[in-house]
Amino acid sequence: MMRLDKYLAHCKLATRSEAKKLIRSEKVSVNGTIIRNADFQIDENKDHVMLVDQLVSYSAHTYIMLNKPQGVITATKSEHKKTIFDCLDFNSKGLFPVGRLDKDTEGLLLITDDGDLTHQLLSPKHHVDKTYYVEIEKPLNEKHVKMIREGIWINDEEKCMPAEVQVINDFSLYLTIQEGKYHQVKRMMHACDSEVTFLKRIKMGPLVLDEKLKVGEYRLLSESEIKMLLALKK
Ligand code: URA
Repeated sequence: MMRLDKYLAHCKLATRSEAKKLIRSEKVSVNGTIIRNADFQIDENKDHVMLVDQLVSYSAHTYIMLNKPQGVITATKSEHKKTIFDCLDFNSKGLFPVGRLDKDTEGLLLITDDGDLTHQLLSPKHHVDKTYYVEIEKPLNEKHVKMIREGIWINDEEKCMPAEVQVINDFSLYLTIQEGKYHQVKRMMHACDSEVTFLKRIKMGPLVLDEKLKVGEYRLLSESEIKMLLALKK
């Protein structure tokens, strides 16, 4: 917990006295409500602090963890379909998703305005692990698991890199892949004579989906999560 004026100063948005003035002039809101007291306590890891229509965060860039719901597309704009940006309740100008999740996939999606980091996380050269919880129609056998671990062919020309599988039971598993081929997990399961019935991303590099986030909810990354991600840039 932290005082609101201290938080604005901590985010290098204003000095402490400027922050007090901004608050007094009703320019600062917390979770959608204008706050007039500088000593208002906020949870810096959870609350959405906005200066007019800009989200205030500790770093020069904004980093948001969304627990993407099914039925929402990972696109910047769509006239007719619901996009991930419809899940956010602030001005999302300049923000973009780091990679894509299918419309029917749930789970961890990072949204940011940090282009360098996005490049780092998505570049096949950097082999960032992505872990999925997968439910399937038909159980995998030992041969399938071996193929996945050694690098499975998903069609005549495309072979996946070796991936980690942790079988939970006949109909669910954890799968960790380093690439991001189109519909990769679904095609990997298809190559094992099964089909995905539910897919949820739970990890991406050092980021773990916050269990407290309900489907459709989001939060800013904490300072320590941002540090872990920025360490990837070096
Ligand atoms: N693999 C898929 O098939 N779909 C996703 O959304 C992510 C990985």
